[in-house]
Amino acid sequence: MSSLDIETIKASLETEIEKVNSFSGLEELRLKYLGRKGLLAQLTSVIPTLPVEERPDFGQQVNALKNKINSLIEEKQRLISSTQGKSISGPRVDIGMPGIAQDLGYLHPITQITEEICGIFSSLGFAIVEGPEIETEYNNFTGLNIPLEHPSRDAFDTFYLKTPKTSGERLLLRSHTSPVQVRVMKSTKPPLAVVIPGRVYRPDAVDASHSFMFHQIEGLAVDKNIRFSDLKGVLEVFAKRVFGQDIKMRFRPHFFPFTEPSAEADISCIICKGKGCSVCSRKGWLEILGAGMVHPNVFSAVGYDTKKYTGFAFGMGVERIAMLKFGIDDIRLFFENDLRFLKQF
Ligand code: PHE
Repeated sequence: MSSLDIETIKASLETEIEKVNSFSGLEELRLKYLGRKGLLAQLTSVIPTLPVEERPDFGQQVNALKNKINSLIEEKQRLISSTQGKSISGPRVDIGMPGIAQDLGYLHPITQITEEICGIFSSLGFAIVEGPEIETEYNNFTGLNIPLEHPSRDAFDTFYLKTPKTSGERLLLRSHTSPVQVRVMKSTKPPLAVVIPGRVYRPDAVDASHSFMFHQIEGLAVDKNIRFSDLKGVLEVFAKRVFGQDIKMRFRPHFFPFTEPSAEADISCIICKGKGCSVCSRKGWLEILGAGMVHPNVFSAVGYDTKKYTGFAFGMGVERIAMLKFGIDDIRLFFENDLRFLKQF
């Protein structure tokens, strides 16, 4: 070893320490130079082998180098401490940066309309009740005076389920909300007035006006002396609150097995005000629901006294009401979860 080695070590230390920018890198460097088997220890170990007169001078140089290394390491340590927690491009946490906005969910337009309609009937004294989507064939058809040969009972018009042997009764996905009429009347004595919102299912091919699943709201009122005029009055209040006070309403004779007499209710076209346009197919009227006086056979099926009680019932498609109210021309839009559509409501 000679003094030349000391100069080389000093030079290499200076370039190496330049490149270090972590505590672990710095520790590695410290061990390399100052560790027990480090370069400085090696220099010190040669002192006894030197001629006696050279020893003090060499020892001094080694000491000076050791101090130099220590001070360089300390300096670097301070530098790393002061920059830690900061990335090269700036501070790691920018408290001024806007957060990631959470999209706030809200009610689907079908739910909004359902709540609006139920709210109107609720203000007229109707209770809101629900029934199951899986129904018995009895509640969906038989109890509603729908004869065995009725086409709606066909498997092309109703989703039948594989019925477990324990059930005893054939099960299906309800094709309308009317079976809940049967459930309500079986469990309640008159007087009663209920509205029944819910999903219904029909094996229809999906197109702009058909869906295998859609929503209905059923209405039922039973008491002594309930008359067709009560039905008309209630439905007119409902239609005017949903579509505007200036609309007109009319009832056309129709047929349903569970009501007699039966009717379909129309409102004057909200687009052309009754003059005739493409929305109402030039008729000036839009069909909005089916209704009628509860058929005596239905009362008999649930054990109501047909001499004592009368009642009215109605049923409407929620999607249809929403489409008319908002001018939507394709039912599929309700079920596609496209935010561009949903955000408009
Ligand atoms: N259930 C009938 C339908 O789905 C609607 C309706 C309900 C008609 C109640 C009259 C009375 O078409």
